[in-house]
Amino acid sequence: MDYGGLCQRMNVVVLISGRGSNLQAIVANSQNLYQVVAVISNQADALGLEFAKAHHIPTAVVASKGFSREAFDQQLREKIDEFQPDVVVLAGFMRILTRAFVQHYLGRLLNIHPSLLPKYKGLNTHQRALDAGDAVHGVTVHFVTPKLDAGPIIKQAQVPVLADDDEHTLAMRVLVQEHQLYPQVLREFAQGKVKWSTQLLVDDIDE
Ligand code: GAR
Repeated sequence: MDYGGLCQRMNVVVLISGRGSNLQAIVANSQNLYQVVAVISNQADALGLEFAKAHHIPTAVVASKGFSREAFDQQLREKIDEFQPDVVVLAGFMRILTRAFVQHYLGRLLNIHPSLLPKYKGLNTHQRALDAGDAVHGVTVHFVTPKLDAGPIIKQAQVPVLADDDEHTLAMRVLVQEHQLYPQVLREFAQGKVKWSTQLLVDDIDE
């Protein structure tokens, strides 16, 4: 897949649950290599939806409340596929996805996680880095596979932990890196510099 040159731009669907600052960075830094064709949220009041509307990007809400995980993922998948994306990007999308959903998008489903994976999968990553006394923290963009936060790592950015850091200050410095890293990975994906291979799955056998 190479969307550089005169070829068509890579179509990206972004999934969010809240603020959408990564979404903003992704939209602002495409350098014409990709385009965000839709923003979908599981939360009707996600701030990122307002940004998308203001930028004339189609939006949709797929509500998760009251639905089984399987039923929600099926509806989400149908909505995403209406936009025929080349890549689906999780940007602060706070839902665990079913194996069937992940398999459907395997190799074209990316996530950003605010830690240097494999450290600190799950939640509260900044506080956990502080509690551990880490000197270095950071952010990871990775392919999504059925195992939570365990898919093949594409790129990471490091952030030093300062003596007077608290969860908030550390999170903010990591976020600055997130906003550079995610668009960069997407541009490289569009140029064919980041490639999925099933060989990457060898370390991702479910327990
Ligand atoms: C970001 O820090 C992202 O890394 C994190 O949620 C935040 C969303 O911010 N994602 C996760 O924790 C996923 N496990 P944003 O809505 O402003 O982009």
